[in-house]
Amino acid sequence: MRQAPGQANQQLKPASTGKRRMLASAVVSGLTLALAGAMPVIAQSKDGKLKVGLMLPYTGTFAALGTAIENGFRLHLNEQGGKLGGREVELVKVDDESDPAKATDNVNKLIKRDNVDVLIGTVHSGVAMAMAKVAKDSGTILIVPNAGADAVTGPMCAPNIFRSSFSNWQPGYAMGEVMAKKGHKRVVTITWKYAAGDESVRGFKEAYEKGGGKVIKELSLPFPNVEFQALLTEIAATKPDAVYTFFAGGGAVKFVKDYAAAGLKKSIPLYGAGFLTDGTLEAQGADADGLFTTLHYADSLASARDNAFRLAYAKTFKLQPDVYAVQGYDAAQMLGVGLNAVKGDISKKAEFAAALKNAKIDSPRGVFTLGKSHNPVQDIYLRQVVGKENKVISVASAKAITRYKTFT
Ligand code: PHB
Repeated sequence: MRQAPGQANQQLKPASTGKRRMLASAVVSGLTLALAGAMPVIAQSKDGKLKVGLMLPYTGTFAALGTAIENGFRLHLNEQGGKLGGREVELVKVDDESDPAKATDNVNKLIKRDNVDVLIGTVHSGVAMAMAKVAKDSGTILIVPNAGADAVTGPMCAPNIFRSSFSNWQPGYAMGEVMAKKGHKRVVTITWKYAAGDESVRGFKEAYEKGGGKVIKELSLPFPNVEFQALLTEIAATKPDAVYTFFAGGGAVKFVKDYAAAGLKKSIPLYGAGFLTDGTLEAQGADADGLFTTLHYADSLASARDNAFRLAYAKTFKLQPDVYAVQGYDAAQMLGVGLNAVKGDISKKAEFAAALKNAKIDSPRGVFTLGKSHNPVQDIYLRQVVGKENKVISVASAKAITRYKTFT
């Protein structure tokens, strides 16, 4: 689904109407100038639409995650009649390919070429950090609908940067407590070598070792490699009590299947941050049965809010929602909260931020608020795979916060 640059903006008009449009827009600009002295000027595109830049992966190992985020975002938008803060929304999409090397160019294209008013993105922590840097420098409002890079709501936090998802530390830390309490003494960790994997393992290790366990080996492979065999052989030889892992998307599907095929599932229990089994269960089949994971969402919350969301999502997209769909939905909700407070005038950044800081986001995951550095303060659930569902077992970590509490 990769888009050529010219196709990325779904609303680009055919070149043949160019001259007429130039005339028309000259008249409009003239009018705008004439009115500027008399009326407050609201910074917005000529047709009054709010341009939202969606920078997400639509190809590669995280492709399904990007689609689920977009679906969730669109679902909330549809429920609001296509408008947020009174303004019609136009989506401009870019496939970031989960490639940090292309991230700065991609985000600059959205800001400078497409003139987006707001940025929504992305999934991959490395790409998100590049987005956050550009957003911070340009002042463009950014809502991160997945990537957990701790820095985005830590050292890089800014008044115009928000997250509707989690920090990598959150599910990792919660699982560290769970596994220590289960009495596993020696654990091997395995993940992709990049910010999300490193931070997930760091959060896990912090809580797990505080609880008396010992991480005896930290294994990794480069993102997005899925050649797990040599590392699985090493796990078998090391014989830990259990394994903690961070993988997601296509890589998570393959890891769970390879772990079972190597005969490890029976002898060495596998645990993970919940991305290991979210949006992946159809493909993983019985190989995922019984796995315990920690995450800020589950398939069996059974609240009225979540039931309504799941029904609407399934009806609209003929798919079951997952955590990514929820995060996309909540990114749209958050944008709506901010825009309502400023009556659609996105240039009022301080008021936009103040509204979000005080908001209770009515998420399908449960109500959450934003901490000082704009990360969700939320419950982390312990879940277990039963059939094709991530069933809630308990709240592993109530209203988990990020380690960063300093931003005011
Ligand atoms: C990340 O890179 O931060 C990331 C990617 C996929 C996930 C979770 C976190 O499912």
